[in-house]
Amino acid sequence: MKKVHLLTIITFLFSSVYSQKAGHKNEIISIIPQPVSIIQEKGSFTLPYNIVIITPKNEEVKRIAQHLSRQIKTVTNQVTIKEGTSAIPRSILLSLTGNKKIPKDGYQLKITTAGITLLANEPSGIFYGVQTLLQLFSKEIESTVIHQKPNAWVLPIATIKDHPRFGWRGLMLDVSRHFFTVAEVKNYIDQMVKYKFNLLHLHLTDDQGWRIQIKSLPKLTEVGAWRVERTGTFGTLSKPTPGEATTYGGFYTHEEIKEIVKYAGDRFVNILPEIDVPGHSLAAIASYPELSCTPGEYYVSPGDRFMIWPGGGQHFYGLLDNTICPALEKSFEFLDRVFTEVAQLFPFEYIHMGGDETARNFWEKSEQIKALMQKENLKNLDEVQSYFVKRVEKIINSKGKKMIGWDEILDGGLAPNAAVMSWRGMKGGIEAAKQGHEVVMSPTDFAYIDYMQGDASIEPPVYSTLRLKKAYQFEPVPEGVNASLIKGGQANLWTEQVYNMRHAQYMTWPRALAIAEALWSPKDKKNWNDFATRVETHFGRLNAAQVKYAPSIYDPIFEITKKDSATIIIKLSTEIEGLSIHYSFDNSFPDNYYPAYSSPLIVPKDAAALKVITYRDNKPIGRLIVMPIAEMRKRAGIK
Ligand code: ACM
Repeated sequence: MKKVHLLTIITFLFSSVYSQKAGHKNEIISIIPQPVSIIQEKGSFTLPYNIVIITPKNEEVKRIAQHLSRQIKTVTNQVTIKEGTSAIPRSILLSLTGNKKIPKDGYQLKITTAGITLLANEPSGIFYGVQTLLQLFSKEIESTVIHQKPNAWVLPIATIKDHPRFGWRGLMLDVSRHFFTVAEVKNYIDQMVKYKFNLLHLHLTDDQGWRIQIKSLPKLTEVGAWRVERTGTFGTLSKPTPGEATTYGGFYTHEEIKEIVKYAGDRFVNILPEIDVPGHSLAAIASYPELSCTPGEYYVSPGDRFMIWPGGGQHFYGLLDNTICPALEKSFEFLDRVFTEVAQLFPFEYIHMGGDETARNFWEKSEQIKALMQKENLKNLDEVQSYFVKRVEKIINSKGKKMIGWDEILDGGLAPNAAVMSWRGMKGGIEAAKQGHEVVMSPTDFAYIDYMQGDASIEPPVYSTLRLKKAYQFEPVPEGVNASLIKGGQANLWTEQVYNMRHAQYMTWPRALAIAEALWSPKDKKNWNDFATRVETHFGRLNAAQVKYAPSIYDPIFEITKKDSATIIIKLSTEIEGLSIHYSFDNSFPDNYYPAYSSPLIVPKDAAALKVITYRDNKPIGRLIVMPIAEMRKRAGIK
């Protein structure tokens, strides 16, 4: 036995995960998110050419079986789906049981030489078990094209028991700043469910576009869904010129929303709709300017600078009033119409009302706001915002839905039944839980996947950075809070700088893998080095599925400090182990024959740039990074 195990381990160490081919033995089990328990045994099970999937008499499970069948057939096996409750030799049995030992949404997957059995109490558990099963197949199962040769799929002998840690495992997609088609949203869902996410939060409205048809307010999509077209860096783009055509945009009709909701539901994904008010509302105000406290001409923003973030802890302010006026009854009549239709379209129990980043500088000057404060005895603008949020909650509750909002809804007093989505760190979530409210954690520090994932010298520019390793440290339950109030968490993809779905994928993967593991796997099962190895295997699967991902974990981390007023010190490191960093200061391209970084570098006199690249096993693996000395001096604080 011992010898066999040693041999197995040696085989594991020397077999390259990259060279696996469909039909070859898939020795390394590499599942993301890490299951609760995996017991792997010696040996493998080869699926027969004619595969039988047995399903119970349950429409949802039959649909899951069809999905599994479609994937298996990418390598041209024959698959038959049969109704039944017991296995036949070498079949795949999907079975609904009443096993009290399997927690909600959990499953038990057993692969023996006799066949595959997947047990769960609900169809959702079967669905998650199938996602795990698919990850046990070699990466060709992810392929979107049919392979020509008949193939024998080989699976490891294993027993996997699994269930989620949290019930809210989300990704947010901002479809306002850039619009994504129904087909693109469906594809995003296809990718997220492979990693057992069960919630897609659609940020449907913002200053840059209103993306959902509201039949009783047609201008929201006639006007609010369209803007002048600009390409470049968000916040620096030029304003519309007089009479310029608004050609960029789009929106989802009721029928399209129903289609997305159904598609998601068939994959056990809830859609959380967000209507972001009272701030971030320029698209609504451009459509209905009477909703503003500040009379004026409004336009849907193409990404121009109309808000100022002064930094240094000072509050931001608007150059344009992008808020819906809390002092006007017609604002609440408008929102009643919006939430009536939103509530009818989305079956999920929550509606998100935004509530974040409300600029107050126009409210300060508004006579109507002053009158409201007097009438309602509101002491400050936080209380004005809280008055607004509480009225919105009443509207949302009256439609039979619960309200959730960004953590600013705590300011001035939380609405009585509201759930809080904590984004400015975890503190809003901690405070809300202390007050007995439900919480979803999505802190910028760990879960903002619009941030750069590597060095600014190579990543498309965004104002902050979140590396995979940091995202992997996401722990949704802070010390000392009532854990039962933490419903889970999500990663947020804001799309100011995301112009297309390929880039949305690049920003999402692999960081969403880290978030998936934080939300599904037991806390004590998490291990960065092990995860990083699994991520690399999944890069192969993402390639097979033609999904773009960021290779930033292969690029070095720069830490630049100043030794004295003229000298910088450059420290280089890597996020993952086993890479060597090679560099040059002489403007030529470094390769593995160039010096390997081993200790902090000092810039040679007159050098213009540092160039670096990482290697593994004598092969380039990172991207070539060109770092101008002037940029490093700036980072070190040297003029
Ligand atoms: C947010 O990032 N403004 C919620």
